[in-house]
Amino acid sequence: MRQDARVLVLAGGLSYEREVSLRSGRRVADALSRANVHAELRDVDTNLLPDLIADPPDAVVFALHGGNGEDGSLRSVLDLIGIPYVGPDADAARRAWDKPTAKALLRDAGLPTPEWIALPRETFSDLGAAKLLDRIVDKLGVPLAVKPARGGSGLGVAVVRTAEELPAAMIGCFAYGDVALVEAFAPGKDIAVGVVDTGDGPRVFPAVEIEPSGDAYDFAARYNPGASTWHVPARLAPRVSEDVAAVATAAFRTLGLRDLSRIDMMVPQAGPPLVLEAKVVPGMTETSLLPMACEAAGHDLGELMAGLVDRAIARAK
Ligand SMILES: Nc1ncnc2c1ncn2[C@@H]1O[C@H](COP(=O)(O)OP(=O)(O)OP(=O)(O)O)[C@@H](O)[C@H]1O
Ligand SMILES: [Mg+2]
Repeated sequence: MRQDARVLVLAGGLSYEREVSLRSGRRVADALSRANVHAELRDVDTNLLPDLIADPPDAVVFALHGGNGEDGSLRSVLDLIGIPYVGPDADAARRAWDKPTAKALLRDAGLPTPEWIALPRETFSDLGAAKLLDRIVDKLGVPLAVKPARGGSGLGVAVVRTAEELPAAMIGCFAYGDVALVEAFAPGKDIAVGVVDTGDGPRVFPAVEIEPSGDAYDFAARYNPGASTWHVPARLAPRVSEDVAAVATAAFRTLGLRDLSRIDMMVPQAGPPLVLEAKVVPGMTETSLLPMACEAAGHDLGELMAGLVDRAIARAK
């Protein structure tokens, strides 16, 4: 099937993560080509839909981070016109993309996630920010992590160490989205786990541990070589490593994910891992975590993606 399949790798678009997405897309398209799949990188613009209708590819692979690519909307459009794609369906993508929704589902399934409150910008303007921020600090304490409810690449994420820093962090966060997610800060190791399902149920790649050289694993730390150190596999005791794998697969199942995803978590010195989020379009750049984990597991990224493309095409039949 794969020799004649034509795959469109969607990337770019207009989100804040456009540049990262193009880098992810290039890497995925190259990897697929090396695995003998005819893959084309395609930017997401207003010509996309007419082109898809006129000349439908056999399958779509998302390397489109943010908005359209992760929130389910483009998946709904592909469903509408009958083009198979790798990754979860529109509903599952939407659940994972909205961090407060995903966190509530995970918590209800018994998977720990940091305590949180999610508030839209209007609530602050309607009710007055000062009292509200005071109550948030009373309830969740400090430090806090403030981030857009929907987003990625660490954009708009801030760690707040004192109550006085909270207003500025909220303003920074609202620059990237209309809803802020304020979370209790979870100390520990920053761990990302790739979960793949090539047909026998979800299984994990070796966990990646992120050791930022600065304070936070922000945008610069993610994409500037040398700004972070990664450990694959993560430096975890065997028991903890098992917990991390179990939590990652449970989160994948709870959110109804499919094919491939990356589960981010904080792993404390003692106690269970706390899930931060699930990425349905994980970064695939040269410094991204999932390709690192894939390689550490001894898999070729192109072969893995080609297998998932085959599955997507078979699903549609
Ligand atoms: N509650 C928290 N406690 C401690 N650290 C946190 C918390 N939330 C976020 N962080 C830190 O900030 C980083 C980015 O957070 P998060 O994964 O939620 O944002 P993101 O923008 O979706 O990032 P990415 O797309 O790169 O995964 C985490 O990897 C972690 O280092
Ligand atoms: Mg993350």
